[in-house]
Amino acid sequence: MEYQIFIYEIDKDVLEDLLIEEAFGFEILEKKENVWKISTDKKIENLEPLEIKKISYSEFEFGEIEPIKEDIFVIIPSYAIPIRIKKGMAFGTGLHESTQIMLTLMKDFINKYDSVLDVGCGSGILTIASKHLTNSYVKGIDLDPIAIKEAIENAKNNNIKDVYFEVSTPLDILKRNSLDKNTKKEYIKDECFYDYFIGAYDVVLANLEMHIFEKELPNIVKLFKKYLIISGIYKDEDKLIKDMLNNLNLKILKQTTKNDWHGFVIGNC
Ligand SMILES: C[S@@+](CC[C@H](N)C(=O)[O-])C[C@H]1O[C@@H](n2cnc3c(N)ncnc32)[C@H](O)[C@@H]1O
Repeated sequence: MEYQIFIYEIDKDVLEDLLIEEAFGFEILEKKENVWKISTDKKIENLEPLEIKKISYSEFEFGEIEPIKEDIFVIIPSYAIPIRIKKGMAFGTGLHESTQIMLTLMKDFINKYDSVLDVGCGSGILTIASKHLTNSYVKGIDLDPIAIKEAIENAKNNNIKDVYFEVSTPLDILKRNSLDKNTKKEYIKDECFYDYFIGAYDVVLANLEMHIFEKELPNIVKLFKKYLIISGIYKDEDKLIKDMLNNLNLKILKQTTKNDWHGFVIGNC
């Protein structure tokens, strides 16, 4: 079914007379002194429209808006997942391409039963996003205590519960899992029980820098079962990371590039 929208230029006084006769809805697009440009679904007799737009009913009824910011309000389309981030010391406001690449890749590779570890969670932006994609165990780690404090606060502001944050490194998690059974038993009620008893996560996220990957990648790759999603790889550093992944017998399933930054989804060969 098609819907017609008429664009008119109309004298304001004429418009007022028409409205007194019979009220109808319209939107003012432009005001040029007494002449208004309006859009309406009413066909006005004896006035030639500047334009007739044909819109399919489904588009008209169910079409989505672009996000609009007005003062303290942000109007978002109904499918969007809002993430509130308070400006702080930690990296991860969503402005950086590497964070954006991570968010896009995560959407396609995390399902609702996947456990997720976010290595270098910064503000917690990716940890919070993960909790919107899965009902399983989600944890963010960072070696910076300020980042962890801010990530906890951001998760609270997003009403995200059942998400864990901890000052630690990939190596700390590997050490927990390698403990003997009896020692592990002491930690059964610990918040980090997942690290002690399962150890590897379905999906591991790591938006780090190349010099950190050079040191940490061998530890990080031991922590994922299905996918490792990484970013923070700048310009021609992608050659270096590809060699490192190849040496670790890992396979690149997807590469995404935004401006000068690369991101990869990695799986086991
Ligand atoms: C580029 S920020 C990423 C923040 C956020 N995840 C994002 O995507 O916007 C990298 C973070 O990793 C942390 N980091 C660096 N080396 C780390 C390590 N070995 N283990 C854990 N966190 C680390 C830093 O403190 C920093 O907060």
